Amino acid sequence: MKIDILLGLQWGDEGKGKIVDVLSPEYDVIARFQGGPNAGHSLEFNNVKHVLHLIPSGIFHRDKLNIIGNGVVLDPAVFKKEIEELGPPVEELIKRLVISTRANLILPTHRILDAAYEHQKGCLKIGSTLKGIGPAYTDKASRNGLRVGDINHLNFQELYKEHTENHLLILKNYNFAFDLKEYERGWFEGIELLRKFRTENTEYLLHNLYSGGKKILAEGAQGTMLDVDFGSYPFVTSSNTISAGACTGLGISPKTIGEVFGIFKAYCTRVGSGPFPTELNDETGELLRKKGCEFGATTGRPRRCGWLDLPVLRYANIVNGTTKLFMMKSDILSGFKTLKVCTSYKVGGRIQDEIPFDNNAKIEPVYEELPGWEEDISGVRDYDRLPENLRGYIEFIEIQTGVPVSIVSVGPDRKATIFR
Ligand code: GDP
Ligand code: IMO
Ligand code: MG
Repeated sequence: MKIDILLGLQWGDEGKGKIVDVLSPEYDVIARFQGGPNAGHSLEFNNVKHVLHLIPSGIFHRDKLNIIGNGVVLDPAVFKKEIEELGPPVEELIKRLVISTRANLILPTHRILDAAYEHQKGCLKIGSTLKGIGPAYTDKASRNGLRVGDINHLNFQELYKEHTENHLLILKNYNFAFDLKEYERGWFEGIELLRKFRTENTEYLLHNLYSGGKKILAEGAQGTMLDVDFGSYPFVTSSNTISAGACTGLGISPKTIGEVFGIFKAYCTRVGSGPFPTELNDETGELLRKKGCEFGATTGRPRRCGWLDLPVLRYANIVNGTTKLFMMKSDILSGFKTLKVCTSYKVGGRIQDEIPFDNNAKIEPVYEELPGWEEDISGVRDYDRLPENLRGYIEFIEIQTGVPVSIVSVGPDRKATIFR
C-alpha cells in the first residue's frame, strides 16, 4: 500500500485537520511530517471542536497509530498542554502516539528569539505565530539543535543550559524584555511528560509498517504558499510544506508515495504579512471573514480574505504533484450573487500564469465571474443534490487545474463531507 500525503495548497488553514480526521478510518497510521505549534488543525465531531497543534489529527481514532515525524519541531510545553486538553487519559494516548527521536526541540529561548526578531523587523515583520519555529529550524540547519532523543542523555540539563546560554548571548544584542523562568517551568514539565511516551527512530517504524502492508497517511501543516523555498519568501514559514517535505520529514522514499491530496478553500485566506493577489479589502472580504469565522486557530488573529486564486492552485499542483483536490468551506460561498475566480495575473500590462519572484510586483488579478447560489448546503451529503451553480464552480476549477475535485466539504463537522 503506497503512502498518501495530504497537504494545503494555499496559505494554510485550508481545513487539513478536519479532512485527516475524516479520512483516518481508511488508514492505520497518521504521520505529521513538518511544522510545529504554528499549526492549528481544527476538527469537529459530536458538537465539540478540537484544535491540534503538534499531535496528528488521527488521534481521536482509538485504533490508529499517530506519529510525530523527524521534520516536526516540538515544543514540550505545548505538547503537554495539548495532551492534557485532548480528553483521553495519558495512559491511553501513550498507546496511540509515537514521537521521532530526531524531531528538533523548540527551546523557551527559541520563542523569545522569535519575538525579538519580529520586534526588530518592525513594519517588515513576517507575522509569525511567535512559537519559536524560525529559530528552532535555524538551529537545526546550523547543527546547533537539541532533539527529542537527547532528553534521555544523562547530561541533558547541561546541554539545555549550553544552548540557552548561546541564545541569551544573541538576545543581548536586542533591546527586548522577557521572562525566561515562566517559559521554562512548563517546558521542563513537558519534558517529563515526553519521557513517558514512545520515542524512537520512526523512519524504521514507518518502513516496517509500510513493508507490512499498513496504510499510512502523511499529514501536512501550513500550506504550499508558506513553503520556505516556494512560498513568498521571506513571508513564509521555515520548513518545506510541500509533498517533498513528507519524504524528508518522515524518512520515506519518493517511491513509496501514492496519492497527493491537495486541500484548498473555495476562496482564499492568509494570516500574517506577504503578497495576496486576490485579497479583498472591502465589505466582501469582511463578509467572507464573518461568514467563514476566519480567525486563526493558533493565534486568534483575523485572517485576510479574498477570491479563489487559480494561478496559486496550478503552481501548488506543479510543486506537489497533486493527484486529487479537496474543496473546503463551500458552504461559506452560499448567498453570493456572483463569485469571482482569478484565472491569471496581469503584471506590468502582461497576462501571465506564473507567480512573480518579486513580492513587490504589482499583480492585477484577471477574474472570471461565475453565478452564485442561494441555498444553504450544509445539510447536503450527495454531490448531485448540490446547487447546479456550485457544481459549475467545481467543474470550472477542475477544467482550469486539470485535477479532479474528489471531496467537497460543506461544514466543519466530520459528517459535513461529500465524497465523489
Ligand atoms: P487547518 O489548519 O488546515 O487544519 O485548518 P484550520 O483548522 O486552521 O481552519 C479551518 C477552519 O474551517 C476550522 O475552523 C474548521 O473547523 C473550519 N472548517 C473546515 N472545513 C469546513 C467547511 O467545509 N465549512 C465550514 N464552514 N467550516 C469548515
Ligand atoms: P496550519 O497548519 C496559517 C504563517 C504565519 C506567518 C508565517 C510564518 O494551521 O495551516 P511561523 O510561526 O511559521 O514563523 O509563521 O506563516 N503560518 C500559518 N498560517 N496556517 C498555519 O498552519 C500557519 N503556520 C504558519 O501566520 O505568516
Ligand atoms: Mg490552521
